[in-house]
Amino acid sequence: MSLIKQTGGFVPRDRSWQPDALTPTYKTSIKRSPQAALLSFPTTLSEETSPVFGHNLIGELDNDLILNYAHAGESAIGPRIIVYGRVLDEMGRGVPGALVEFWQANAGGRYRHKKESYLAALDPNFGGCGRTITAEDGSYEFRTVQPGPYPWPNGMNDWRPAHIHFSLFGHGFAQRLITQMYFEGDPHIKLCPIAGALNNQKAIDALTALLDMHRTVPMDSRAFKFDIVLRGQRQTYFENRKEGL
Ligand SMILES: [Fe+2]
Repeated sequence: MSLIKQTGGFVPRDRSWQPDALTPTYKTSIKRSPQAALLSFPTTLSEETSPVFGHNLIGELDNDLILNYAHAGESAIGPRIIVYGRVLDEMGRGVPGALVEFWQANAGGRYRHKKESYLAALDPNFGGCGRTITAEDGSYEFRTVQPGPYPWPNGMNDWRPAHIHFSLFGHGFAQRLITQMYFEGDPHIKLCPIAGALNNQKAIDALTALLDMHRTVPMDSRAFKFDIVLRGQRQTYFENRKEGL
């Protein structure tokens, strides 16, 4: 039976499909993975209950990366896309009021960051980050340009698949989850040591947004659908799951 059709009951968390923290083909994981057994700390009341952001802080263009850093009358260069979907709990119910933040490289694969070393050009009209808040049904949407793949210093010649980073904030400080979204059909996904660390095609598929021609705007933007499932059997893989709740 589909989880969406379930209406209740306990669904135990399945951690068995989480990748190992140490995956040497992803070189940074060698230093980042724990060298000793993890210690567990109980969360404090303020971590669980304190507000983390003001819901009225969202600006008019915060969910429009084509325009939010562009000069007046100009726009970001690249394939124009809409990314949309829902944030869902394990039963398929929408999660309202979650802050969804996103950041990405420009269409050439270049980040606007002082430590960026890739020689692809910056786009003067593209900042590369935005945010929105999920609606009552858990839905979210933003407009951007499709990011390009980029090389990174890992193996001799590793390239990241085109991707958009996501952060989700719930209603407490400790409710933060981070992941990244790939694009359907990108040949770099199967070559990527980071995506490969998952070692689980279903988990990679859950991170891959599907082209949705029904939501395209003709002669304007294509659309990609990306649902984010917080936990349960259909959960999205989160990079910081081992730290977060
Ligand atoms: Fe990235």
